[in-house]
Amino acid sequence: MRFANDFIFGGATAAYQCEGSTREYGKGKVAWDDFLAEKGRFQANPASDFYHQYPVDLKLCKMFGINGIRISIAWSRIFPDGTGKINQQGVDFYHQLFKECHKKGVEPFVTLHHFDTPNTLFQKGDFLNKETVDAFEKYASYCFEEYKDEVTYWFTFNEIWAVCTNQYIEGTFPNGEKYNMTKAFQSMHYMMLAHSKAVLAYKKGDYKGKIGIVQSLEYKYPYNENKLEDIIAAKNEDVLQNQFLLDATFLGYYSDETLKIAQKLCALNQGMLDIEESDLEIMKKAAKENDYLGMNYYQSRFIQAYDGENDIYHNGTGEKGTSRFRLKGVGERMNKEGIDRTDWDWLIHPESMFDMLVRIKQQYPQYKAIYITENGMGYKDDFEDGIIDDTPRIDYVRRHLYYLLKAIEAGVNVKGYFIWSLMDMFSWTNGYNKRYGLFYIDYKTQKRYPKASAYWYKYISQTKELF
Ligand code: BG6
Repeated sequence: MRFANDFIFGGATAAYQCEGSTREYGKGKVAWDDFLAEKGRFQANPASDFYHQYPVDLKLCKMFGINGIRISIAWSRIFPDGTGKINQQGVDFYHQLFKECHKKGVEPFVTLHHFDTPNTLFQKGDFLNKETVDAFEKYASYCFEEYKDEVTYWFTFNEIWAVCTNQYIEGTFPNGEKYNMTKAFQSMHYMMLAHSKAVLAYKKGDYKGKIGIVQSLEYKYPYNENKLEDIIAAKNEDVLQNQFLLDATFLGYYSDETLKIAQKLCALNQGMLDIEESDLEIMKKAAKENDYLGMNYYQSRFIQAYDGENDIYHNGTGEKGTSRFRLKGVGERMNKEGIDRTDWDWLIHPESMFDMLVRIKQQYPQYKAIYITENGMGYKDDFEDGIIDDTPRIDYVRRHLYYLLKAIEAGVNVKGYFIWSLMDMFSWTNGYNKRYGLFYIDYKTQKRYPKASAYWYKYISQTKELF
């Protein structure tokens, strides 16, 4: 079993997590600027200083056989207020960055929105306000035209589910609201509408490249597969994270089952999802035009029925065993005997990636291609005697690549894999001690050091064989 010769072995990044220079070079504000400052736990500056260090990072890509890089454009570097006035310095920065990618033979896969709505739009309701939907379409159209000679692979959004659930259910993203199912679903719907409008704008422009969306998926298993209540709980969570967005992506509407469960969950906080017929018309057209799905995949969940009080606690420190996720009427996430977890309580369950890939092929046969746009392991890397031995990460990635190959063998069309992350960068809700990179960053000096995983990944990308 080996990967095809044109398989992409990439590394992923996100603007706000790595660029630094958050208020420099004309960049507009995002809600995270104040949110992180208020929490006082860590700062977004200088982060990995990608704004200045990108030539070094791309050189490392070339040296280590990494032939693709996921980059996101910071919307507020282009339009500081989300719409209107353009910041030329920001526009030029991405031209230089894409040019450098091509010079180094590293294909850029570009995401337009990775958790960073400009603050002006955010304060007006973010994607709960249709004004943001139209502003996104304009921003996307501007980028398609401006970068048409440099970017072939586009993604509209990164992880709609993560944005909406962290913003409105878990409370870990600005503004820290909790347990509001209706806002989460409504915002997911409007983000899918914004995605659809951007896809149609791209196709109308008749550009030479391709476009899709990145969704964050997790297979949801009933904790006790013989218990009806647990089966229902797993289905609730599946609709919340997976099926609602997959329906919207591939069908352009929500199936009766999806809608019924979504409305049931919205009713938990006396809300109701509002979907206009005209939205669905747009989404249906766009669904046919998507060229691929980006799938971020880290873990699965085992869900048990739960009817107690809402109780979510985010383990943001890496103290194993401290996280709790219990949503009244939805379900409770459980650990499972025999399935290990990271220090942040993320289940290590690579077989589930196979299950998810095969499910997409079966449930949505109209899908065209899939890229694994993120997968990787958060770890407290140690720098000892000039060596960073991250064997657990190698093991994690190897096991996922093994099941990925098995899915390809089972007929799923997967074209590439991007490890999260290319180099170390801060984690939105966990700070700097949760590292993911192939390259270690000493944040005092901004020097990069390859971890053991970088050497291992180089071998795989060069031979296309898993060992
Ligand atoms: C994905 C995001 O959700 O997972 C990344 O696209 C993020 O931005 C990554 O950093 C890992 O999650 P976390 O919470 O460990 O940083």
